[in-house]
Amino acid sequence: MLIFTNNLNKTPKILVTGAAGFIGSHTMVELQQAGYQVIGLDNFENSSIHVADQISSITGTPITIENIDIRNKKALIAFVQQHKDIHAVIHFAAYKAVGESVQFPTKYYENNVGGTANLLDAMAVNDINSIVFSSSCTVYGEANPPVDETTPVQIATSPYGNTKQICEELLRDQNRANGLNVISLRYFNPVGAHDSALIGELPLGIPNNLVPFITQTAIGKRKQLTVFGNDYPTPDGTCIRDYIHVVDLAKAHLKALEYQLAGKNQLGFDVFNLGTGKGSSVLEVVAAFEKVSGQHLNMVFGPRRAGDVVQVYAACDKANKALGWKTERNLENCMQTAWAWEQALAKMENK
Ligand code: NAD
Ligand code: WQD
Repeated sequence: MLIFTNNLNKTPKILVTGAAGFIGSHTMVELQQAGYQVIGLDNFENSSIHVADQISSITGTPITIENIDIRNKKALIAFVQQHKDIHAVIHFAAYKAVGESVQFPTKYYENNVGGTANLLDAMAVNDINSIVFSSSCTVYGEANPPVDETTPVQIATSPYGNTKQICEELLRDQNRANGLNVISLRYFNPVGAHDSALIGELPLGIPNNLVPFITQTAIGKRKQLTVFGNDYPTPDGTCIRDYIHVVDLAKAHLKALEYQLAGKNQLGFDVFNLGTGKGSSVLEVVAAFEKVSGQHLNMVFGPRRAGDVVQVYAACDKANKALGWKTERNLENCMQTAWAWEQALAKMENK
C-alpha cells in the first residue's frame, strides 16, 4: 500500500487520459493497486470499451473509463468539473502511428497538440496543478547511445515526433505561465503485457511495431516477419532499440506522480528517460521470442525502413536516482507476456 508523503488528508484522485490504451490501462492497474482513486477517460478510438472490465478483474475494484474526446473542449471541461478534487493528471491520450502522421499531419496536430491544449485549459479552470506527460525517445532522433536527458532534441523526422516536441514546449510554457508542475516521460520502446494476459497492446490493422508483428506472425495472422535491414553497422547487422516492459513503464508513472505530489519536482518542468539502459537488436528480440514461446518464427530479411535510426538506447540514471525507479523485467519476460497476451486475444476472438 502506498505511503503518502504529500500531506494531503485523503487519497489522491488521479485523472488518466487514454486510460483504455496500451500504457494507460497498465498504469490504471498500478494506480488502483497502490491505493489511488482513479478516473479514466478515453474515446476508444484505439482501444476497447471492455478494457475497464479487464482492469477491474485484475485489481478487484470497480473502475470507470468514460467516453470523452479531448478534442471536445466543452465536454472535457464539464467532465473535469464534475469530478471534483482531482489532484493530478497522467496524460496518455494521443495518436501514435509515425507513418500515418506523415500522411495526415493535421489529424496528429489536432489531436496530440490541440487535445493537450484543451486538457491544460480544463486543468487550469479546475486548479489542477500536476501533470505527467507521455513523451518519446523519438525527440532525440539519431544520437549516440546511451542517450541521456542532456542529449539535444533534434528536428523531428515525423509530424508525430514533432507533436511530442511541441507538447513538451507547450507544457514548459504553461509551467512558466501558471506554475503547472510537469514531468515529461520519454519512453523508449514499450512492449510486453500484463502477467494476467487480460490487458495488452491492441494494434489496429497491420502492426508497425516489431513485437506485435512477431506475435501476430507466430499466431498465424501474418505470413512472415520482414526484418527491415541486416546491413546496419551493428554486431548482427540489424537495428538496436531499448525495449522496456509496459509494467515497468507503468510503475515509473507512479514514481513520477509520487515525486510530484511530495513536492520534489522543484524545477517545475522536468524530463526523464524511461528505458532499460540495454540495447537489443531485432535478431535478439526474435531469438528471445523463439526461446520463450518454443515457436519457430517465419522471417525474411528485407530492405531498410525509411526513417529508422541505427541504434538507440537510454541512459536512465536520472530516473533511477531521482524517482527511485528501475526496471525489473528482461527481454524474455517482455516476449513471454506479449506472447501470452496474443494467445489470450486469439481465444477471445474465437469465442
Ligand atoms: P494507445 O493508442 O494504446 O493508447 C492511447 C489511448 O488514447 C487509446 O486508448 C486511444 O483510444 C485514446 N485516445 C486517442 N485520442 C484520443 C482523444 N482525442 N480523446 C480521448 N482518448 C483518445 O497508445 P499507447 O501505446 O498506450 O501510448 C500512450 C501514449 O504514450 C501516447 O501519447 C503515445 O504517443 C506515447 N508513447 C507511446 C509509445 C509506444 O511505442 N507505445 C512510445 C512513446 C510514447
Ligand atoms: C523496432 C525495430 C525496425 C517492424 C517506434 C516509433 C517511436 C516510438 C516507438 C512512439 C526497428 C524493426 C519493425 C517490422 C522490423 N513510438 N522492425 N520489422 O521504430 O524503434 O519506434 O515505436 O513514440 O516513435 O517510431 O519501433 O517497433 O517500429 O521498430 O524489422 O515489421 O524493429 O526496423 O529496427 P521504433 P518499432
